[in-house]
Amino acid sequence: MIEKSNLLDLAFNMPKTELHLHIEGTFEAEQMFEFALRNKISLSYTSIEQLKQAYSFSNLQEFLDLYYQGMSVLITEQDFYELTFAYLTKVHSQNVVHVEIFFDPQGHLERGISFSTQINGIYRALKEAETNWGMSFKLIMSFLRHLSEESAFNTLEQAIPHLEKIYAVGLDSSELGHPPEKFLRVFKACKNLGLKVTVHAGEEGPPKYIWQAVNELKVDRIDHGNRCLEDDELVQRINHEQLTLTVCPLSNKKLCVVNDMSQHPIKEMLHKGLAATVNSDDPAYFGGYMNDNYQVLIEQSELTKDELKQLAKNSFSGAWINPDRRQLFLNQIDTLFA
Ligand code: ADE
Ligand code: ZN
Repeated sequence: MIEKSNLLDLAFNMPKTELHLHIEGTFEAEQMFEFALRNKISLSYTSIEQLKQAYSFSNLQEFLDLYYQGMSVLITEQDFYELTFAYLTKVHSQNVVHVEIFFDPQGHLERGISFSTQINGIYRALKEAETNWGMSFKLIMSFLRHLSEESAFNTLEQAIPHLEKIYAVGLDSSELGHPPEKFLRVFKACKNLGLKVTVHAGEEGPPKYIWQAVNELKVDRIDHGNRCLEDDELVQRINHEQLTLTVCPLSNKKLCVVNDMSQHPIKEMLHKGLAATVNSDDPAYFGGYMNDNYQVLIEQSELTKDELKQLAKNSFSGAWINPDRRQLFLNQIDTLFA
């Protein structure tokens, strides 16, 4: 029987990717107050401690209300750069070698922050991480599903001059009442532009939303996907299409998608052959970055060595990464776990 401390060492030391990360969700309270001060914007919280006390959510919407408030202090290109670089520095120290980052342009456009201000700041940080540490990356533009199809189309239009920086499009925000089919035409347009598609589905929403994502939007990946486990036929279909699920353990606990980490479904997903991966979603709000997510699975969900190895491998198999680089890290994982 392998000791938990050995598994933790493996998890921390193994190369890994992060495939589900909202850059606005990496906004630490300290940095948020710093930006608020320099941009002369008042937050509705009087101190860092008071803000952190608000990090208790009973569902996705309660979190999103705070998340949109938090991002309101992001104004300049330098803000977006510093936010992104702080995240990349953190995960570089956790042996993350490839990241795929969501950003929510509509959350900033509606506050008068231009598309180029946002993307140029984020991209500069990503390129710096690539130069400094050889970290590879993809940038994913995400549409807010509580807004209209028209707003998504307007956003896509603004993205056109920046398409060489954007690899994929996503769909996030309030899931219930906003099924993927609401955005069918936008995602068709995105596919025609050569963009990959990944959609938040089955976090709070029913299996029907995941079916729509697969059948109608023809997604390349599924974000969360937890509720696919309620439908055996859907599980078979996801396996048949070899779709990766970007699962977020600490997020699921914080947003009450799961009641207890000991009941987290990621083990069941693996046992059913699903290509589940571990990700942090909005680490500043949910209590931890990549290694913290692996840690809770090891300490509270009885993750085995084989399961950990599978998760590490899935994180590369499901990544939009150069094939030689993928193989290099898959080989490293084999060696590390031998
Ligand atoms: N935006 C940021 N985090 C999200 C999540 N977990 N679900 C939906 N939208 C989000
Ligand atoms: Zn998410």
